Amino acid sequence: SAAVKGGYETFMDKEIHDQPTAVADTLLGRVNDRGELVLDEMRIDPSVLRSVDKIIVVACGTAAYAGHVAKYAIEHWCRIPVEIELAHEFRYRDPIVSEKTLTVAISQSGETMDTIQAIRHAREQGSRVLAIVNTYGSTIAREADAVLYTHAGPEVAVASTKAFLAQITACYLLGLYLAQLRGNKWPDEVADYLENLGQMPAKLERLLAEQEDMVRELGAQMADQTSFLFLGRHVGYPVALEGALKLKEVAYVHAEGFAAGELKHGPIALVEEGLPVFVIVPTPRRPVLHDKVISNIQEVRARGARTIVIAEEGDEAVTPFADTVIRIPATPTLMWPLLTVVPLQIFAAALAKAKGLDVDQPRNLAKSVTVE
Ligand code: G6P
Repeated sequence: SAAVKGGYETFMDKEIHDQPTAVADTLLGRVNDRGELVLDEMRIDPSVLRSVDKIIVVACGTAAYAGHVAKYAIEHWCRIPVEIELAHEFRYRDPIVSEKTLTVAISQSGETMDTIQAIRHAREQGSRVLAIVNTYGSTIAREADAVLYTHAGPEVAVASTKAFLAQITACYLLGLYLAQLRGNKWPDEVADYLENLGQMPAKLERLLAEQEDMVRELGAQMADQTSFLFLGRHVGYPVALEGALKLKEVAYVHAEGFAAGELKHGPIALVEEGLPVFVIVPTPRRPVLHDKVISNIQEVRARGARTIVIAEEGDEAVTPFADTVIRIPATPTLMWPLLTVVPLQIFAAALAKAKGLDVDQPRNLAKSVTVE
């Protein structure tokens, strides 16, 4: 009924709107009044965490893309190599795991069998396992050495939305915790990042208020398109992958995400007249990254693509090459995924709805895959 959906037509719509709260609640109680990071639930001994020489993130689907985003942040902050691995690939390829490996399992349900098998394998090799899980008391939460819960609240729609934002938030808390513990970052630097994270709920609210209607309309207009590309660089790359996944899951449309720099190495051959291409543009305050992506937009536009550009407010460099611009509040690069993925979720839901599909329960999919 509409009541359980908070007045929204679908759970996916409701959960997209729950996102500011999901991020705020995942931060709640973990940042004290003085803006310091407190992770009481970190039950792995600090001496063990100080000696970690590699992090392996294991997850599936959207949770794996959250891990992919986290790799950029954690490597930058902690100088620890972070591998992100699909749980089912990790388990069967004889991975290099030792007592100095920290395995981070990310899962909304905590019941994904592929991920459960991966953490069992990691523990057998002596690795500590930290779970980033949304479901209290789930199997992954019980089997892990420590749990950092995402507080996204129950997610009902099969296609994950708010869990993704909460997972990125929790991964960032983990990264900042390790950076502080290991002496890579001073408490004041950590406080800066925490402050940026703390600003995300309000920015998300504003983004929803200002862009949702336009993006919905765009989704409805494009209901007869049969193929989409998504391009991003740096943390925009996993966002592109997630944008494509959402469209596949709920709208049954062929969609592919690519690293923007990889275009010229193959995918650009796919571009033809009228092909819709989403491009996630980094902040102009990182000119090196930004300008590269602007050239990528030009490259696809010159070959006839219809470009839908997600760019920061005030970034006028994109306008000559964009058929549509979706504007995002200014935010540091690492926080960018928490905002840029939102229009992609809204777009997928709107397009699916225009096609008359069941947005919350797409065909062939399960909310939680409890078989290998
Ligand atoms: C299924 C769902 C996806 C989800 C993935 C991982 O495939 O359909 O939406 O991202 O499992 O689920 P988990 O519960 O482990 O995050």
